[in-house]
Amino acid sequence: MRDSEFEFIRTLVYEHSRIQLGPDKRELVAARLGKRLRATQLPTIGEYCELLQSPQSEDERAHLIDAISTNHTFFFRENSHFDFVRTQLVPEMKVRQAKERWPRFYAWSAACSSGEEPYSLAMTLNECLPASAGWPWHIECTDISHKILAKARAAIYKADVVAKLPAAQIKTYFQRGVGPQEGNFRVRPGLQAALSFHQLNLLEGEPPFRDPFHVIFCRNVMIYFDRKTQEELVNKLTRRLVPGGYLLVGHSESLTGIRHSLHMVKPAVYRRPLSAV
Ligand SMILES: C[S@@+](CC[C@H](N)C(=O)[O-])C[C@H]1O[C@@H](n2cnc3c(N)ncnc32)[C@H](O)[C@@H]1O
Repeated sequence: MRDSEFEFIRTLVYEHSRIQLGPDKRELVAARLGKRLRATQLPTIGEYCELLQSPQSEDERAHLIDAISTNHTFFFRENSHFDFVRTQLVPEMKVRQAKERWPRFYAWSAACSSGEEPYSLAMTLNECLPASAGWPWHIECTDISHKILAKARAAIYKADVVAKLPAAQIKTYFQRGVGPQEGNFRVRPGLQAALSFHQLNLLEGEPPFRDPFHVIFCRNVMIYFDRKTQEELVNKLTRRLVPGGYLLVGHSESLTGIRHSLHMVKPAVYRRPLSAV
């Protein structure tokens, strides 16, 4: 890939997703563009760059972001967050609920990828806030990628992915595929009903949600952004939390060095102050 082509791709990706591709990502970009060249049947990266410059290339720009971004995720990734939700966050909010009269416990999985994160949260909430608790819950799930969101919505996972969960959890929350779905598991519709999915670029405009959240999971996405973008995003998310609400970030995504108004509760767990910020 020529220098000018790498520069063009990296600028375009930054403008559309704020994903920062450093010089060390050149090989990775070239490898991932291979897929797009095959899909568009273009013989060279130069011609692919020309396609991206045409006014009708909006769809292809979305495919490019899909090809470049990393969607790696798994059920109960960074499990301490789910323990924290179950043992501390929900009990604390449940006590406040009596006074605040929040109609529901409201969570946001802000870069949900193929859904393992919000479904893990859903299983957790189903256990610590069952229907008998009398306080319903809902999870908004967003990602920039249409393609990965379609996977999250479909909620179908390979048996070897689901097999890592305890047998009782699989039995309660998944249906085993039959016929053409043999070898797959699907999240039960009852659990899925408490999740909504929306395509959203976290750095563009305002999220389409009115109510503030008790918890926002924004994990393993900020790592791809520069400091300035991380700061903008953290402050944007903070405004979307109830006072005393929590922002959970990936354990490799410290907020050190960026200006924000959150209190660190423990590594990767931040809290909006109770008084207005
Ligand atoms: C590595 S996955 C993280 C999934 C999950 N949060 C976890 O921790 O396992 C990162 C996700 O961020 C999404 N993403 C990247 N840039 C984004 C942006 N600007 N707005 C929203 N989502 C974005 C990608 O499409 C990808 O699905």
